[in-house]
Amino acid sequence: ATRKLLLLAGDGIGPEAMAEVKKLIAAMNEKLGAGFETEEGLVGGCAYDAHGQAISDADMGKAMAADATLFGAVGGPKWDAVPYEVRPEAGLLRLRKDMQLFANLRPAICYPALAQSSSLKPEVVEGLDILIIRELTGGVYFGEPKEIIDLGNGQKRGIDTQVYDTFEIERIAGVAFELARTRKNKVCSMEKRNVMKSGVLWNEVVTATHKAHYSDVELSHMLADAGGMQLVRWPKQFDVIVTDNLFGDMLSDVAAMLTGSLGMLPSASLGAPDAMTGKRKALYEPVHGSAPDIAGQGIANPIAMIASFAMCLRYSFNMVAEADRLEAAIAAVLDDGLRTADIMSDGMTKVGTVQMGDAIVEKFLAL
Ligand code: NAI
Ligand code: MG
Repeated sequence: ATRKLLLLAGDGIGPEAMAEVKKLIAAMNEKLGAGFETEEGLVGGCAYDAHGQAISDADMGKAMAADATLFGAVGGPKWDAVPYEVRPEAGLLRLRKDMQLFANLRPAICYPALAQSSSLKPEVVEGLDILIIRELTGGVYFGEPKEIIDLGNGQKRGIDTQVYDTFEIERIAGVAFELARTRKNKVCSMEKRNVMKSGVLWNEVVTATHKAHYSDVELSHMLADAGGMQLVRWPKQFDVIVTDNLFGDMLSDVAAMLTGSLGMLPSASLGAPDAMTGKRKALYEPVHGSAPDIAGQGIANPIAMIASFAMCLRYSFNMVAEADRLEAAIAAVLDDGLRTADIMSDGMTKVGTVQMGDAIVEKFLAL
């Protein structure tokens, strides 16, 4: 089978991290006959430098045609002063918007070898494996009205509006229940129905979707503020958490820090299944940015990017065994004591980006 991948490495450490994924893709094609066909494009500052846009229409077209897009990171001080519409982030926003990527998947996994270096007690995070699903295209970040009004008496009013329609809640709930079935079969939905009408509707629609199609999955509800507390107190009580754009932004960042460095965290953003093919548009990216402070030094941690590729194998290509094997390879090199600078601790072996990538490829092929 041909599997079409678009690689958008972007700026800063993006290309360094992507280079390690390219090695994996080449190894999988050569040794496993995986049949990946890759194209490359420009996004972010490098795209602006090349053609004055954060992503060109041609590269956007490649993303629409690909089975999945791998995205590195964008931005950096060089482009801090470029016009707002063509700033590096605009490339990512356009990808999300044009592909209608409404479901943002943020796993929080604690690799056993790193449990000691978490900000929480090791027993709280050891073996942690949860998935936060954040609604990404609706809610208060996009709802209208959205403005600052001059009230004329020296006062202004800033307005953002939280809006959710039934279909938006149904489709994100559907993703949560479906993914829960491939995991521990448990979903916790978080909103603030005690103070928000959109929260009342969220709760109703998730409950109705569950009853109609997914009653085999265990469903619970939690107020989002209490959810934040529980995430820090005892995160292992959760399997899949589904929540709106704003709460998901915050809760996923909280969950991220349970498990250590930014350099370890992958993410996926999925669209709706195509009516004809059933395939979802999808973009996979590390949570971290372009890290200009360490770019070009060969010391960036490539694990977030590689783990994003593992998610791509799992969710876009249904290569579940290979995804499991890649995640096991990451765990194994950490068990062997290899550490990039950002996760270094006493007694471990410090390695650079390329060495870490090589070790993971080697383990992946050996496992
Ligand atoms: P950042 O995530 O780039 O870096 C924050 C800190 O974490 C830095 O000290 C960096 O060295 C470290 N770090 C990040 N990833 C790492 C890795 N893989 N290995 C080792 N250390 C790592 O966030 P920051 O500094 O706020 O933003 C830098 C630039 O990236 C800005 O231009 C920002 O706009 C952009 N950015 C882009 C994102 C994206 O492309 N999705 C997301 C976040 C920021
Ligand atoms: Mg955030």
